[in-house]
Amino acid sequence: MNVLNNCEEYTLVTGASSGIGKEIAKEFAIRGRNLVLIARNKNALEELANQLNTNYKVNVLFVSIDLLEENASKSIYEWCKERNIKIQAIINNAGVGLFGEFHNLSVEKQISMIALNINSLVGLVHYFIPELKKRKKGYILNVASIAALYPLPYYSVYGATKAFVLSFTEALRHELRHSNITVSCLCPGDTDTNFFNNAGNTNQKKFLMPPENVAKVAVDSLLKNKSVIYPGNMKLISKIPRFILKKIIARRVSKYEL
Ligand SMILES: NC(=O)c1ccc[n+]([C@@H]2O[C@H](COP(=O)([O-])OP(=O)(O)OC[C@H]3O[C@@H](n4cnc5c(N)ncnc54)[C@H](OP(=O)(O)O)[C@@H]3O)[C@@H](O)[C@H]2O)c1
Repeated sequence: MNVLNNCEEYTLVTGASSGIGKEIAKEFAIRGRNLVLIARNKNALEELANQLNTNYKVNVLFVSIDLLEENASKSIYEWCKERNIKIQAIINNAGVGLFGEFHNLSVEKQISMIALNINSLVGLVHYFIPELKKRKKGYILNVASIAALYPLPYYSVYGATKAFVLSFTEALRHELRHSNITVSCLCPGDTDTNFFNNAGNTNQKKFLMPPENVAKVAVDSLLKNKSVIYPGNMKLISKIPRFILKKIIARRVSKYEL
């Protein structure tokens, strides 16, 4: 790492090796923020770190770690503490989906997904809140999904993990409302990333948002202290009453039923 600026504070982004997380990292770099990038793919993290370091003159560190490892959140916290890396913002973006009928999907994979989408996020928030409190201003952005708002057949467990993230984040925002920490939840719709392929859903998607657009809205809105962030036309969807949304979704997913 070349030390390029004097700012001591860092933004930690999980799932920074691809998709929305990679673009969120870029958005912070554009705004002159130093970064700690987290994911498993070491080469992708190294390449992004070098690119952001060169292009935006920010300090970029990375930790290649599987967030499913026991005590991964604590290890990341200790890694930062040992190096006196002052974290100012936590972006909990790492997450996976699993597509298919609940009873036909591997239960081990579904439980791992719950561990990644929920446990690792809760762990990181828990360990880093005392750190963020030491900063003049602290930020937490948790990435849920528009699927947090309604039950999503064929992504039943995934959708439920994102409902957890939204509920948890809104409750935490209330608890921290008189503190220096801004807490926001990002609820993207379908976005053009590896997500669908990795989830085992190879159906062609019609409307996919570019991850760059999602990331820009996310970071701008976090810095403006928005509570729940709906990129693109997801804002309109969020206004539809839940009982109507459930009917729309049921009709939309009926194509998966033979
Ligand atoms: N794409 C969409 O349509 C969409 C819509 C709504 C919400 N989201 C949410 O957006 C977030 C980002 O997803 P994406 O769409 O950008 O997909 P993506 O490109 O597949 O990114 C997922 C990221 O999570 C990391 N990750 C996965 N498993 C991990 C593990 N065990 N340990 C550490 N890191 C891990 C991946 O890195 P490594 O593989 O290198 O570990 C990657 O950087 C997820 O929380 C997802 O649920 C996506």
